[in-house]
Parts: sequence; structure tokens; C-alpha cells
Amino acid sequence: MTTTDKDRVLIFDTTLRDGEQSPGATMTHAEKLEIAQLLDEMGVDIIEAGFPIASEGDFEAVSDIAKASDKAVICGLARANFKDIDRCWEAVRHARRPRIHTFIGTSPLHRAIPNLTMDEMADRIHETVTHARNLCDNVQWSPMDATRTEWDYLRRVVEIAIRAGATTINIPDTVGYTAPVESADLIRRLIAEVPGADEVIFATHCHNDLGMATANALAAVAGGARQIECTINGLGERAGNTALEEVVMALKVRHDIMPWTTGVDTTKIMNISRRVASVSGFAVQFNKAIVGKNAFAHESGIHQDGMLKNAETFEIMRPEDVGLSATNLVMGKHSGRAALRSKLRDLGYELADNQLNDVFVRFKALADRKKEVFDDDLVALMRDASTDHAADRLQVKFLRVICGTEAPQSADLTLTVDGVDRQVTATGDGPVDATFNAVKKAFPHDVSLQLYQVHAVTEGTDAQATVSVRMEEEGRIATGQAADTDTVVASAKAYVAALNRLLVRREKTGSDAKEVSYKDAG
Ligand code: KIV
Ligand code: ZN
Repeated sequence: MTTTDKDRVLIFDTTLRDGEQSPGATMTHAEKLEIAQLLDEMGVDIIEAGFPIASEGDFEAVSDIAKASDKAVICGLARANFKDIDRCWEAVRHARRPRIHTFIGTSPLHRAIPNLTMDEMADRIHETVTHARNLCDNVQWSPMDATRTEWDYLRRVVEIAIRAGATTINIPDTVGYTAPVESADLIRRLIAEVPGADEVIFATHCHNDLGMATANALAAVAGGARQIECTINGLGERAGNTALEEVVMALKVRHDIMPWTTGVDTTKIMNISRRVASVSGFAVQFNKAIVGKNAFAHESGIHQDGMLKNAETFEIMRPEDVGLSATNLVMGKHSGRAALRSKLRDLGYELADNQLNDVFVRFKALADRKKEVFDDDLVALMRDASTDHAADRLQVKFLRVICGTEAPQSADLTLTVDGVDRQVTATGDGPVDATFNAVKKAFPHDVSLQLYQVHAVTEGTDAQATVSVRMEEEGRIATGQAADTDTVVASAKAYVAALNRLLVRREKTGSDAKEVSYKDAG
């Protein structure tokens, strides 16, 4: 089967907008830039970099991503008003290929929020899309909650948006309500019945509330959509969005029945998946399709036997296709610099000599504590190494915890605060609670702990633990992660990392706190 343009599906990644907007998934400016660069490098066609009007931080992120962009179109989100659209344009206009994405909720429930009649909303759509198009020749328009919008009204407003100059019409299944047959049908009918539909690209934007986001997106493509909106690891509000890795791999593996192609280099999937999990603090579930830890693991005897004889018995795609190294070559304390560099390259990390020296020291320290160092250990180590601790106000200098069957447990902690050591002892209900109480005693603060999560990086009692902590203070959210063979030490470091980030945000007088939400759709 030959591939022509009509078979090309554009991949629109919204990890940095719809994904980042999910509670707790906030990323720092530097992290957003890094993820955008990885998306551009992997061949994503359009990157939705943020919602510029939402906060000063969002604006700066979108405009810096636009400035640094290479091949991808850089898109920003704007509600249906001139102020949002102007702000969005100010941020994306620096891109080589900018796009404004403007939207309004068109279903009865959403129309009731700005309290507009159908006609008033239709006028608003005409005015705002025209305004966006006067600024930028690449305009996407979305009727939010399209799948619960009355058919006649949806058809009418899509036509208005096309006449006003929209170049892409996105059909969001905002609440994950549709099903594959309906998803395909809706796009097919719009293309068939809306005048001018053949001059624009139809996009599909699915949420996963019923676990059908991937199926719905692929069905929409069968119905004629040529842009899929998705996020890495399916990150997103509630049950998340369509997962990029799932649609891209489904189109690749089942090209026989879904003859459409994307421009994504699939070998870059694992690396970006790990980075997004790490910076968002949303770990990937073990049995998640494509990127879960167990997605290519074969444990049962029958499976292992079959795999040894012929990998295709139980594998429909090769681990290498998604960027997993074929062999999990185990490293240890006798492994040298060259082996480490080559291993890290396989895992997607290209290091300059000075960076390698630093990582090698950390690797040796880990190998001294742990007999075998696996790929996942190195990924955890790289995550720690990529965090710049130089500017941290708080640092864990010493920690000793006394545990036993009798409560309370106690923690002796030395916390360096702005260069000065503070020694404290605190008790708590368990070693982690005692440790967190000790941090609070050494550096009094009043934040709410929203998440505390521990993952064993590998198997075995000497496994490293990766700890994620999310905390909140007056609407500002910060996450921290750390890995260590000692779970309590990892917990203390993760807690302090989150606290350091919160302090930075506090100093920036709340510039990261979202001032508006995209749900204030008026
Ligand atoms: O889910 C949704 O409807 C959205 C729109 C803003 C496109 O994310
Ligand atoms: Zn969405």
C-alpha cells in the first residue's frame, strides 16, 4: 500500500497543555522546554505548548517553546474572546510555524455557563475565529463537548468556524463519552455535510473516562480525521487523554487494517515517556500498553519458552521499536566509563564528557550499594543527576531513623537551611512520618501533602526506591522526586525537593498559580 498525503495523520501533542493542566502534573519552565524539545525531535507535528492567558508562567513557557521550536507547529490555547486570543498570539508568534487554538463549549451544558443563546454563541464563534485568523494563518477551532452537542447546532457552528477562516476543526470528546462507532460516524457526517469541510483538517481529541480514548481516536481517523490530539503516557485530567504512544504504535503495528502513517520516530517513545513520568510525578502503571514496565516482560513459563524459540509468539512489536534496548545489560561496580556511556546512549541520554564524569561518580556510589545496576536504576539516577541542586535553599545533610515494633519512631535530621545546619529530632507514626515531622521542625512550614508515592525501581531487597511527593500551598503545587536504596532517605530528599520548588514559586509571587482555567469557557 502506498502512502499519500491523504493517508498521513498529524500528531498533535497536548502533554504540555491538557496534560499539564491535570491536578498535580505541573512542570517547571525548564521541564516544559525539555519536553517540547523531545516532542519536536521525535517528529510530533503540532505541540500545544500551553494556555498563555492562564498565568505569567504559562505565557513565558509557550513563548520560549515557540522561540526554541524547530520543525513542529507551536500552538497555544485561547478561549473565545479577543483578550485570550491576543495573548496567545503574543506567545506563539515567535515560532517558525505558529498556531492559535481557540475554543468554546457548544453543548447545552456548556452553553449555559456563559449564558449565551445559540445565535449569540454562533456570532461569538464567527468574531473570534475571524480575529484569530487576522493574526495568524493557522487557526484551530474546537467546539468543546462536541460529542454532547446537538447535531444540527454542531454542524452549524463548524460551518461558521470554517467560513471565518479556521484551518483545523477539532472535535473534542471532552468527557470521554463517545464510543468508536459514534466517533467515526460523527467525523464522517461532518465531512460529508458541512460546506467547506474538504478544505480543512478534522482533528479528534478524546478523553479516556470509559477507557476508549485510543479506540475512539482511531475510529475518528477511519471516519476521515487527519489529526489526533494526544498526550505522552495518556497524561490528562481525570482518566487522561488518548495516549500518543498507543495511537502511533497501533497505526504502525496494524498498518494492514489501518493504512495511515504518522511522522513519529517510535524509537524515541520510551525516553520521552520516562521523562514525562518523572517531571509530572505521574508514574506509568506497570501494565500500561506500550510504555508500562511489564509491556514487554514475559514471566510465565509458557510465555518465556515461546519467546526463546521465536519472539513473535508473544510479541507483536519489538522492544527496540519503542526505544527499549534489546538487552537489559546489567552494569556493576566493575563497569567502566565507556560501558556506562554506551548504556546511557541506548537509554536515550547523550552526555558531554563533564556530565558523564559526574554521573559516573554517582553510578559508582550506587554500584557499591547495589550488586547489579539495571536500566531502570540508571534512569532513576539520571533523573536525580539532571536536577540542579545548587540553588536549593534546603538540603538533607544527615538522617538517622530509629524504627521498631513500638511506636513512635524517631528521626534525627540535619537540614541545611540557606547554608546553616539545623539539627533536630522528631517522632512520628512510622519512619517516614517521623522524618517529615523532623523537616517541619527544622524548617517550619504549613503546606498540605497531596501525594506520597513509593516505587521500587527494580526487584530485590537492595532495589532503589523512587519516591514522589506532591505538596500544595495557596494554589501553588510542587512535586519532588528522589531515588535511593534507602526508602526513608529517598522520602526525605523528595519531600525537601518539593519544598525547595515551592519556595521558588513563593518567591516568584505566585506567577505559576493559574489565574484562569480553561473551563471558564466564556
Ligand atoms: O477536552 C477538551 O474539550 C479540550 C478543549 C479545550 C479542546 O481540551
Ligand atoms: Zn481535553
